[in-house]
Amino acid sequence: MAENYRFFRMRMRLLKQGRAPYRAVVRSTIDLETAFLRLTGRNLREARIYEIGYGQRPMRLLALQSLGYDARGVDLDPPVIRGSMSEFRSIARAGGSRRLVKSAVRHFLFDRAERRHLDKALREAGAQLRIDIRRLDVGNAAEMEIPEGSIDLIYSDNVFEHLPPDVMEILCARMAKWLSPQGVALVMPDVFSGIAGGHLTEWYADFLSDRYQRRTEPWEHLRKRRARADCYLNEFRLEYYRRLFRRHFHIAEEWNVEEGLGGEFLTDEIRQELSEYDVEELLLGRYRFALKARLPHVACPALQPDDQAHWKL
Ligand SMILES: C[S@@+](CC[C@H](N)C(=O)[O-])C[C@H]1O[C@@H](n2cnc3c(N)ncnc32)[C@H](O)[C@@H]1O
Repeated sequence: MAENYRFFRMRMRLLKQGRAPYRAVVRSTIDLETAFLRLTGRNLREARIYEIGYGQRPMRLLALQSLGYDARGVDLDPPVIRGSMSEFRSIARAGGSRRLVKSAVRHFLFDRAERRHLDKALREAGAQLRIDIRRLDVGNAAEMEIPEGSIDLIYSDNVFEHLPPDVMEILCARMAKWLSPQGVALVMPDVFSGIAGGHLTEWYADFLSDRYQRRTEPWEHLRKRRARADCYLNEFRLEYYRRLFRRHFHIAEEWNVEEGLGGEFLTDEIRQELSEYDVEELLLGRYRFALKARLPHVACPALQPDDQAHWKL
């Protein structure tokens, strides 16, 4: 409940800030363009783009589509676009009554206003919001039927930490096949060892500077484990992602997007308690991997039990 309340406050704050965050969404398409050019030498305008896990607010995907990019994506949960009965019925079928209530509240309180802001930001960039529902696939990404070599850019933010190991394994193998020879995947999990890795909203980057009595302690998810996120987390450590990705890809680049996240909360006492982690690992936020398929695609041997020690704590 408190978690939902904090999310509510964050959304209200963004709406009050007006257009700025939506300008940032539009700008983030330029970040993709720059990264794609650097990694492939090609223009994103020529690329076939696919997002894995676009979420309930597929803002970046909608921005890309509206700006004329060839972009589509997939999510397990159907999005609410029009707010029609049939959309809410499919949400209830896929996620039950709790998900239905959450989606309805979100849609009527926020989605429409947020899309208006996004439309304004797009108009400043010479476009307007266009939503093509046919390009928002619904299903398990690991089960999508996508022709080999048919995608030039796959991107996925804040999704891989939610994938069970077996799904991740299948998905990585498939992604490596979907990518065109020069294609690249930009994958950004929120790494478990970071202060926000437990997905407790009060430790998200957006709230770290807020001064209030928190219900949980910093790195609670590694230390006391009293509070848990209301979503599945695979609890992978950074090194485990690396090993898993290397089985299917060449890691072309990797970087910590939120460097030093939570540094002000890392006391000597907590460092001692969590001495099995390097300080860098504790200060990780969302972490970006740029992955290129190894050609011809042959997966390296499966991870051994010893490798798995890097995963669970
Ligand atoms: C935390 S949300 C992130 C959404 C969005 N990418 C963002 O950054 O706001 C994770 C999303 O991943 C989706 N997801 C989880 N497992 C998936 C799978 N196997 N296939 C497709 N989507 C999946 C969930 O439904 C959820 O919408």
